[in-house]
Amino acid sequence: MTTSTAPNVVVVAMLLVVSLTGCDVAPGRARARTQRDTPPAQATTFHALYDRQCAGCHGRDGRLGAARPLNDAVYLALVPPERIRHVIANGVPGTEQPAFALSAGGPLTDEQIESLVQGLRAAWWRPDALRDEHVPPYAAPLGDPERGSAVYAAACASCHGGEGSGGSKARSIVHSSYLALASDQHLRTTVIAGRSDLGMPDWRGQIAGRALSPAEISDVVAWLVTKRTPVPGRPGGS
Ligand code: HEC
Ligand code: HEC
Repeated sequence: MTTSTAPNVVVVAMLLVVSLTGCDVAPGRARARTQRDTPPAQATTFHALYDRQCAGCHGRDGRLGAARPLNDAVYLALVPPERIRHVIANGVPGTEQPAFALSAGGPLTDEQIESLVQGLRAAWWRPDALRDEHVPPYAAPLGDPERGSAVYAAACASCHGGEGSGGSKARSIVHSSYLALASDQHLRTTVIAGRSDLGMPDWRGQIAGRALSPAEISDVVAWLVTKRTPVPGRPGGS
């Protein structure tokens, strides 16, 4: 065995290449295949698929990523499994969520997508997440933005600031670059399920002593959506 340091340099360089190229989830598209990878068609277990395809945005272990936590029993109790399947397969147009189905130009077979749908629930849903709660509908039409403005003041302003432009406890949610890439459903999902990994409560914890009603949820989402297109001459659209 040689005591030269040269081989170590080579090893370090190789590790560096591996660690750099191991991080190739580009925004808005599914992770690229490389020759080094297990062919995507062979990976079927939930954790292998999740780590490879989802963790870059939704976080290691399903939390603390840029995109919402999926390791969230309340969220998983709320979202219909067919919606999860649809989002994974077809993506969310106009946002960073990629389409993964082969039929949509992505890398995953129907079987792999099914493994993700089932695995999310098996790994991170808990039967006691929502017991006797009256759970608001996952999806609903936008409500009334004027009433939503009052809901915002009562339920959100203490953290997100007076006009949504950021407060001491949470950042702006009306910035045009944020709203341009967030779907209406994402805003609704966030109001209902919160961001358990970052300290935003779900719909039951935003007003002291009671949960938001389904109408209040639809109204505050409608208010937020009106902020998406900036009003000319008024920065931030507020
Ligand atoms: C490039 C980043 C990125 C990757 C990779 C990614 N997502 Fe997402 N995901 C997002 C974003 C951003 C959203 C919110 C889109 C919107 O505005 O509706 C999202 C939304 C979702 C939603 C819907 C949330 C809701 O509102 O109900 C699900 C479910 C989801 N992703 C699952 C996955 C799974 C499973 C994977 C891996 C197969 C994955 N995502 C990979 C960024 C990503
Ligand atoms: C107790 C404080 C608190 C309250 C109340 C609260 N939020 Fe949040 N919210 C947060 C935190 C913390 C985050 C994580 C990001 C950050 O640090 O700003 C967040 C994130 C968000 C996001 C971005 C989520 C994402 O992943 O894209 C939206 C949208 C949002 N909140 C909307 C609302 C709305 C609407 C209300 C009222 C119905 C509300 N929040 C009430 C603390 C709060």
